[in-house]
Amino acid sequence: MIEIKKEHYIAEGLARTCYRHPENDSLCIKIGKPKIEKSHLYKEINYFKKIENKDSSKFDYQFYAAYYGEIETNLGTGFVYNLIKDEVSQNISLTLRHYLEMENGPYTDEVLFKALGRLKSQMITHKIFVGDLRARNICCKILENNTLQFIVVDGIGHRDFLPFADWFHFFAKKKVERRFLRANMHSLSAQRDLIKRMRAAGETIV
Ligand SMILES: Nc1ncnc2c1ncn2[C@@H]1O[C@H](COP(=O)(O)OP(=O)(O)OP(=O)(O)O)[C@@H](O)[C@H]1O
Ligand SMILES: [Mg+2]
Repeated sequence: MIEIKKEHYIAEGLARTCYRHPENDSLCIKIGKPKIEKSHLYKEINYFKKIENKDSSKFDYQFYAAYYGEIETNLGTGFVYNLIKDEVSQNISLTLRHYLEMENGPYTDEVLFKALGRLKSQMITHKIFVGDLRARNICCKILENNTLQFIVVDGIGHRDFLPFADWFHFFAKKKVERRFLRANMHSLSAQRDLIKRMRAAGETIV
């Protein structure tokens, strides 16, 4: 059994707490929070099973954190994922929310928006959808050449009964565009405004 300690804590969302894997530097372990239903946790896992045969060598880059299965830990069942880190510093990558809230961040909006557009087009091309599109669910990985890769770390999947978007490019494009619009992710200022509204409403996990 894997022993997770306080020092391994990375961050948390509403449903899960994310820790470093104590025995493997390139992985993280997510543990469901006490009141969260199992079915909620398994939604994303089931989608991973559905997309496991996608040929990632055709991706422009690995644009969502790979999932490696379950392990038993002292905190209960853990879900193992690739840990997103910046290339040179090896720091855990910050999320888009961090960058959008910075006063004088290291990247211009133009650079951030371009990286976001690249993520979006990957989602359309490879028909991989994100139900919970939020700035806190996108890690911004800094590469050696100082460019950015936006990587989705949470919320992939969809609940369409008739998944036309899984089958046809036209519907995939429509679906992703609709999702970006609905999530206020079509522009950085819209996303910043959303984050501000959440902060103003006293939400602790933004
Ligand atoms: N693979 C990863 N690599 C680096 N950091 C990560 C990774 N996965 C999650 N994180 C960090 O941990 C936080 C919480 O993880 P996650 O988003 O999976 O929790 P959640 O409870 O499912 O979130 P939500 O409230 O959005 O549903 C993220 O916002 C991010 O800061
Ligand atoms: Mg999250």
